[in-house]
Amino acid sequence: MAEIKVDERLTHIAFIMDGNGRWAKERGKPREYGHSVGAKTFERVIRYCGDIGIRVITVYAFSTENWKRPAAEVKAIMTIFREYLNIARKKAEENRIHVMFLGDKGIFPKDVQEKMNNLERETEKNPLLLNIAVNYGGRDEIVHAVNTLIREGKTEITEEDIASHLYTAHCPPPDLIVRTGAELRLSNFLLWQSAYAELYFCDTLWPDMGEADINAAVESFYARKRRYGGV
Ligand code: IPE
Ligand code: IPE
Ligand code: MG
Repeated sequence: MAEIKVDERLTHIAFIMDGNGRWAKERGKPREYGHSVGAKTFERVIRYCGDIGIRVITVYAFSTENWKRPAAEVKAIMTIFREYLNIARKKAEENRIHVMFLGDKGIFPKDVQEKMNNLERETEKNPLLLNIAVNYGGRDEIVHAVNTLIREGKTEITEEDIASHLYTAHCPPPDLIVRTGAELRLSNFLLWQSAYAELYFCDTLWPDMGEADINAAVESFYARKRRYGGV
């Protein structure tokens, strides 16, 4: 059971789950192996975040740029995604999670889209929100929002218009963004929403992500003063 608890200052935590490939390589295994172990880590991290009182969790699972990877790796990730969709309902009920997807679903086969939509609907009464970003790109998201506004007939827009047309319209912006895997960048993740997010980077490769790393990120968050441009 968790030793730490968060309060309303840390409502939303987002993870850039990076380092699966390097983790596998270090073990002389194919990158795909890193992704399947990474999927187990994801389950563990979600459960722990729920235990410490986080109400909104977002994970970056697959970016609009990740399609550039070798076909075999993309295929393996999609297989893991399909397997997750098959057990997600049961897992979501166990962990009291409402699952939502961030990103353009249109790229996925019809049956996968249907599973994603069903899962979102069937879990909507659960109190904890889990956003899974798949085929997600921050730039793509903003373009998509603006195009929707144009279709709605808008000729001038506000920040609220954009925010309310993003994939994250249903939730507050992230308070804390954690990136594993030792890279110091956002890689097109939550570009609009990260404006005042606190950022935390760690060297741990995603499959090794554990309670101690999450505790360290949370502690770092609470040691900071968020000023939002004020004094
Ligand atoms: C993150 O791990 C998972 C995805 C981007 C799908 P990587 O696959 O990027 O692992 P590294 O960064 O190459 O080690
Ligand atoms: C970011 O990781 C995307 C996800 C974690 C899904 P990448 O491994 O794709 O990012 P870069 O290529 O190092 O910037
Ligand atoms: Mg990477």
